[in-house]
Amino acid sequence: MEAKMRISRDYRISEIDKRIYGSFVEHMGRCVYEGIYEPQHETADPQGFRDDVKELVAELNVPLLRYPGGNFLSGYNWEDGIGPRENRPRRLDLAWKTIETNEVGLHEFIEWAEEVNSEVNMAVNLGTGTIDDARRIVEYCNFPGGTELSELRKQHGREKPFGIKTWSLGNEMDGPWQIGQKTAEDYGKLAAQAGKLMKLVDDSIELVLCGSSSTEMPTFASWEAEVLDQAYEYVDYISLHRYYGNQENDLSNYLAKSLDMDFFIKSVTAIADYIKAKKKSDKTIHLSFDEWNVWYHSHEETHNTEPWQVAPPILQDIYNFEDALLVGCLLITLLKNSDRVKIACLAQLVNVIAPIMTEKDGRAWKQTIFYPFQQVSDFGRGIALTPNVHVASYDSKDFKEVPYLESIAVLNEEQQELVIFAVNRSESEAINFEALISEIDVTSVIEFSQMSGFGIKDINDKDCERVYPTQSQAITLDDDKVSATLEPLSWNVIRLSIA
Ligand code: AHR
Repeated sequence: MEAKMRISRDYRISEIDKRIYGSFVEHMGRCVYEGIYEPQHETADPQGFRDDVKELVAELNVPLLRYPGGNFLSGYNWEDGIGPRENRPRRLDLAWKTIETNEVGLHEFIEWAEEVNSEVNMAVNLGTGTIDDARRIVEYCNFPGGTELSELRKQHGREKPFGIKTWSLGNEMDGPWQIGQKTAEDYGKLAAQAGKLMKLVDDSIELVLCGSSSTEMPTFASWEAEVLDQAYEYVDYISLHRYYGNQENDLSNYLAKSLDMDFFIKSVTAIADYIKAKKKSDKTIHLSFDEWNVWYHSHEETHNTEPWQVAPPILQDIYNFEDALLVGCLLITLLKNSDRVKIACLAQLVNVIAPIMTEKDGRAWKQTIFYPFQQVSDFGRGIALTPNVHVASYDSKDFKEVPYLESIAVLNEEQQELVIFAVNRSESEAINFEALISEIDVTSVIEFSQMSGFGIKDINDKDCERVYPTQSQAITLDDDKVSATLEPLSWNVIRLSIA
């Protein structure tokens, strides 16, 4: 099969916001406890956080972490997690039917995030929480001093404000599973008032409003229109959440599911712009795709887990090679929409539907999906360029005209690199790929990294890494033309040096 991509400096989509490579840490399952935090572990630092996990998180290169949930958030009181650890309450977490010990709270998490070079996207509870709780946490975190809450922060060891810039107004408030679920009108009004108070405390913060929990929600689209109608003035982003799975074991359909993500993004963009027009506003609302990933492998085990444990092993999806290919397609889809998607969070970071897994008292290791995420976060910085691609397409069970090649180019002028990310969705045919590059002076090939040739269900585990990128030599550079062979079912990263 042949594929031709035209690349030009003029085909600019947008400068990529680095927060598009965010992830998510929820107090659930083994994400915090036995994930990032395990005081008895041989690599634990004085605060109880595992150094081996910190190293992997730093390697993954995650500039933003959404915290502390998730469904957990909607029953959580942030004040349970501050002050001396010995005074902190053990609580029932009704969202996941577990016990929360509160050993890790706001200070410990933010300081851990600073160590791994991430900003925090702090979420406020709008399930059981009030607008005053939302105001109080902003004051506690961001106000310099001289008030009860800012002085309390100092007493707890943090002199300088945390300076949290990005805040989320609740979590999945449309879902019947959510503690304190609300109608769109009620949530929109509450979020507007919470947002108003939060910005009165600190007008430099940015706020994310809850959109739908997925495109499959019966209220999808009307929810977005109503909540934006209520809260437009106070917010900066609207959230999207979506998880995918290959329950039917239909590979060509599974790899096409990034087209659903594209549809979701385009739909929410259209609704946000409709409300903008309705309000005759000059403000544009951007998108925060703050939960996305593959999630389906662990459904049964999670269902059969005993309730009321501390850190039970739930949502521990073990990812295979086909999942890594879909994650590659999803990352490219986010980049294609980077003019509107400014924040995105791979859900989650450790152990819970995560790229990083840990064993209690043992190793930390990389899942298959670690690699495409890491490579796009490392090299997908700069300007996303419209993928002008000619390639054949196919129809799958749920999608029409699925291109065999999913791809995008990113121009990183600071690093003097042009980078192409590409997935070949074909199960049987290699793609003879040609990139015709104009207005950019390409001087050499830095590397052609590829994940291909694995069994489609191959996984990594703590003792054996089977699926990882390797270097390919199947590439040539001829003036302004790059030619490369993209193997069937492959994830590809081509890095070119530019003058
Ligand atoms: O990421 C797992 C869960 O998925 C989150 O808690 C919730 O927001 C979503 O439904």
